[in-house]
Formats: sequence, C-alpha cells, structure tokens
Amino acid sequence: MTRSAQETFFRAFHASHPAVTSRAFGDGRSAGGRSSYELLRDEIASPGRVLDLACGDGFLLELLAAAGHQAIGVDLSSVDLALARQRSAAVAEGRAQQLPFADHAFDACVSHMAFMLMTDIDEVAAELARVLRPGGQLSLVLGGGPAGGEAYALFGKLLREILAEVPAEQRIPRLGDPRTRGRAGLDEILSPAGFSPVQWRTEEIDFSGSLDQVWDFVSTVYNLFPLAESASSALKTAFLAEAPALAAPDGLIPLVFQVHLASTRIVHKGQ
Ligand SMILES: C[S@@+](CC[C@H](N)C(=O)[O-])C[C@H]1O[C@@H](n2cnc3c(N)ncnc32)[C@H](O)[C@@H]1O
Repeated sequence: MTRSAQETFFRAFHASHPAVTSRAFGDGRSAGGRSSYELLRDEIASPGRVLDLACGDGFLLELLAAAGHQAIGVDLSSVDLALARQRSAAVAEGRAQQLPFADHAFDACVSHMAFMLMTDIDEVAAELARVLRPGGQLSLVLGGGPAGGEAYALFGKLLREILAEVPAEQRIPRLGDPRTRGRAGLDEILSPAGFSPVQWRTEEIDFSGSLDQVWDFVSTVYNLFPLAESASSALKTAFLAEAPALAAPDGLIPLVFQVHLASTRIVHKGQ
C-alpha cells in the first residue's frame, strides 16, 4: 500500500470508528492492574513536555496531563482529534513522517499501538530524533498479538475463512513495517536516527469479558473495515455462535493480548 493510500485508509477507518482503540484498550488490565495506556504513561518518570505520537482520541493525553506533563498529541485523524479537543487536550493534525513541531521541542515522546502501523518508519524515526531534545526519551507500546484464551484464535480462523472468499478489494494489505515487531528490528530502525538500544519488555493485558465485550475487542481489527456488510455480519454471527463454548466457569470468555513496551533515548543525532 502506498503511503497516501495507507493514510487515506487510516483517516477513513478512524472517521467511521471514533475512539475505537481507547474503547478497546482502555479497560484492559496488566498483572499489576494497569491498562496499557497507564503502563506507557508510567514509563516517563519526570514531568516534562511530552509528545503523544498518533494520539487518536486523546485518552493517553488525558492521563499524561493528570500526571503533570505538558502533553501534546499529533494524529492524521481529524475525527479523533476533535474528540481529543473535547478532553481539553492540545493536539495538532499532522503526519508522523513530517511532524509540525520545532527541533528539540520535547523531553519525551510516547506512542500507543501506532508505531507498528506506519509506513516510511525510518522517516518517522528521523523526525522523532529531530523533535526530541538531546537525551530525550522515546517509549512505545506495540501490539504483540494474542497470548491466552482461544477467542482470538477462533476470531482469526473465522476471519481467514471469510477473507479467503471475498474479492481482493475487501482485503487490506499488511500495514506498517515488520521490523517494529521485535527488539532487533526496532533497533535497526531507531539506531541510525541516533537512539540508544531499546529496553524491551512484554506485558500481558487481560481483556476477558462477556461475549459482547470480547466481540467488541476482537472486531476492532482494521481487516473488517473493507468487508461488505454481508461478510462482516457472517463473521459476527459465526463468532457469537462458537465463542460461548470457550467461556470459563465464571461465564467470562478468557482473552489475553500481549503488548511490548520499548523505551530508548536519543544519544546523538543521526544523519
Ligand atoms: C490504533 S490507533 C491508536 C490511537 C491512539 N494512540 C490510542 O492508542 O488510542 C492508530 C492511530 O495512528 C494514527 N496514524 C497512523 N499513521 C499515522 C501517521 N503516519 N501519522 C500520524 N498518525 C498516524 C491513526 O490515525 C490512528 O489514530
């Protein structure tokens, strides 16, 4: 997918699914009881000027402001940015590959569930290096995929079956850069821009819930967006029929999703 096609896709998807990520991830809990947004907020130790890269509807910006940071977000999606403004968050519309901020404007940058979706990621790394002050911190939450419970596997199987039947225009190509899925790949992207080797850890986030809650979580994937109504409702019907068999004795359907937390600092300016 070309850059502009991908950005058009993100704008259209998020315009029709406002706040989709925060509604899905806001209620998840790590073993220590924190959401993935709270884990990311807590990576930034001392209050300062923090950029939330691809901030969506500003859920994390609100947490950062409450923790004493001077936070500002940037995103492509005007619809989500309007929601962020309703939270009184400071935001700018823009692209990660060409950030609308001055050199050294930030002490830290965070990004939740977005860095792994971006094209031309080396340009994004160079822009982050430019807008961070020397020694500034970059912390990312990256999606790591399902880590427990069979619900995601069931959803994936049903989705693959449906996708195998639909015409190509109802499928999305893989988004983002595959190097963002692992520590070594991330270093390959970030180190030429002047970042130190990333500190990397993995956390399991529990999204177990009722049948409807689990459907709401799994059905946020981008793949459903281009599907015809008939295909997406066939997928939902099949999932709602088969998933109840996965319920635990407490009636909840187990669903655990992994996120990776990657943190690094700018140590010298790259090119
Ligand atoms: C999965 S959502 C995450 C939103 C938010 N960080 C959160 O977790 O609630 C991915 C976000 O990345 C944004 N995005 C994707 N590519 C971008 C780019 N090149 N520049 C700025 N934002 C981008 C999308 O508009 C979308 O809001």
